[in-house]
Amino acid sequence: MKEPIIAPSILSADFYDIGSAIRHVEESGCPWLHLDIMDGHFVPPITFGHKMIADIRAKTELFLDAHLMIEEPERHINAYIESGADAITFHLEACVHSHRLIQSISRAGIKAGISIVPSTPVSNIVPLLEFLDLVLVMTVNPGYGGQKLIPFCLQKVEELRRIREQRGLHFLIAIDGGVNAKSISDIVIQQPDVLVIGSAFFNAQDRKQFVADFRNAWTSPIGNID
Ligand code: DX5
Ligand code: ZN
Repeated sequence: MKEPIIAPSILSADFYDIGSAIRHVEESGCPWLHLDIMDGHFVPPITFGHKMIADIRAKTELFLDAHLMIEEPERHINAYIESGADAITFHLEACVHSHRLIQSISRAGIKAGISIVPSTPVSNIVPLLEFLDLVLVMTVNPGYGGQKLIPFCLQKVEELRRIREQRGLHFLIAIDGGVNAKSISDIVIQQPDVLVIGSAFFNAQDRKQFVADFRNAWTSPIGNID
């Protein structure tokens, strides 16, 4: 069974001490860091912007996975491209000219991703799949950490895997929201490539142990760690 990439989301970290939070991610052996950018429009909360990414970039080798939950991402894309992010994912629902935006990101040599909220079907992104490096399936309604995974969203992973195979495409399939010890047994069946984990990672007393336990549960037949 292929092991997924675990991408801890610093949304659930203590923003007063973000450096320690990132060191914990590095020490846990996770190769990706997920960065949730929220603008108070596309989603109600506001988090941080491109300067935060640039400052983190200067201090870490982690793969920086920027998840833009912002309206009209095309208006801000240059700043995010320049921030040093390795992947930039924007929401289909927030942008009219999605294909053009994917092109701008790809031409800058950055992995391009699209995310869809629970109410958006996979069929809406089918024409774009061949241009994408990453599809981020939201398994909660975006905006907040610590929510419960919405089960029907997981079916999109299987649908995307099928299309990817049929068409010989190479995009990664990520899920974001409610990934934890309780939901792992449902998730493992769908085999996403990337798991974004916020609260379950940062609420764990021992983050390194959390990742080790999570990986064991992924490969065990029971697939549960409570
Ligand atoms: C929510 C964010 C997620 C969030 C996930 O809108 O996109 O990345 O950090 O948090 P958990 O893992 O707690 O659901
Ligand atoms: Zn996210």
